[in-house]
Amino acid sequence: MKAFITGINGQDGNYLSRYLLELGYEVHGIIRRNSVPEHQESRIDNISNKIKTYYGDVTDVGCLNMLLKKIQPDEIYNLAAQSHVRISFDIPQYTAQVNALGALNVLEAYKENYPKAKYYQASSSEMFGNNVDSDNFQRLATPMKPISPYGISKLFAFNMTNMYRTSHGLHACNGILFNHESPMRGSNFVTTKVIKTAVQIKFGQKNELILGNLDAKRDWGHSKDYVVAMHKIINHNIPRNFIVATGQTRSIRELCDIVFSHFGLNYLDYTRTNIKYFRPNELEYLKGDSTIIQSVLGWKPKYTFESMIEEMIEHWYNILK
Ligand code: NAP
Ligand code: GDD
Repeated sequence: MKAFITGINGQDGNYLSRYLLELGYEVHGIIRRNSVPEHQESRIDNISNKIKTYYGDVTDVGCLNMLLKKIQPDEIYNLAAQSHVRISFDIPQYTAQVNALGALNVLEAYKENYPKAKYYQASSSEMFGNNVDSDNFQRLATPMKPISPYGISKLFAFNMTNMYRTSHGLHACNGILFNHESPMRGSNFVTTKVIKTAVQIKFGQKNELILGNLDAKRDWGHSKDYVVAMHKIINHNIPRNFIVATGQTRSIRELCDIVFSHFGLNYLDYTRTNIKYFRPNELEYLKGDSTIIQSVLGWKPKYTFESMIEEMIEHWYNILK
């Protein structure tokens, strides 16, 4: 089996590649040219001799056409994105070019060059905006009304994926994934930022943690569990969409409390807020209902919130000590 992954150097690209290699796949992916060559594949260094990478970009349909024709993958995972929600307010056009038109480029190259493949689109809980059902969950039927350029760009890609399935008969599906983290998570996302800074404070390397909104709530799972869901979704005999979430929600405040308590510290003594880290509009609350993927595909996360945070703390402790 052959897989083609865009965004292979990202958090999920790393875990997905490793999972597919374990299953015996040949793994191909595109990386972007970076003026510091070490950064191009920094997160896939550990598997660079086992996968095949090519320079490429989802905004460059020519390279996508050429690669899909050449590789003829069984599965295409479109994970490439400008994935930071707050930054999407600073660079909305670029975000739309990559997340929306980039996804359309991948879909079109797939249809034109190798329609026998199956396609997975990395869709996001950010597409719901502030809509939530009366039982406080988001699910497939929850109306989508995104409030960030990121969420809006992802909704375009979500709808396009549905259109390529229903209008062109392709095996194209969406995983609507809620927040997921890991030691590979970028350090400007809130979990890593809180954990890394708490470790630095413990070692006397920093004396404060500066955040934005502490009262937003998120449903946090682990990337290693969520890439298993991606593989199950794309391989379901009927192409369709699934929600992937833990069904538990916690505030940023609770996250800070748990992380600082691990070191015997009170987060209130170190944490302050700065307007710089607030968003022009905030998605306040996320809690996903994943009962369908659990019952139809038998997916179940192995990590708990606590075991994921422990793993991330240990990772940053070992790096910074
Ligand atoms: P990530 O760590 O930010 O990785 C994104 C990857 O996309 C990076 O490797 C990046 O390349 C690549 N990329 C960006 N622009 C590109 C372009 N124009 N052409 C080709 N590649 C490009 O994100 P992640 O956490 O792994 O998430 C994977 C996907 O799932 C994203 O689409 C994200 O929006 C979506 N998602 C994530 C979550 C979550 O909580 N993690 C939840 C729902 C959906 P560089 O390495 O060169 O920067
Ligand atoms: N990044 C960040 N930095 N977030 C902060 C900070 C801060 O200093 N302070 C508070 N927050 C709050 C944000 O306002 C948000 O409510 C929450 O922490 C989580 O922020 P992020 O970790 O940046 O993630 P996100 O929820 O905006 O987006 C992630 O999840 C989406 C799925 O819901 C990203 O991975 C997206 O790509 C993904 O689609």
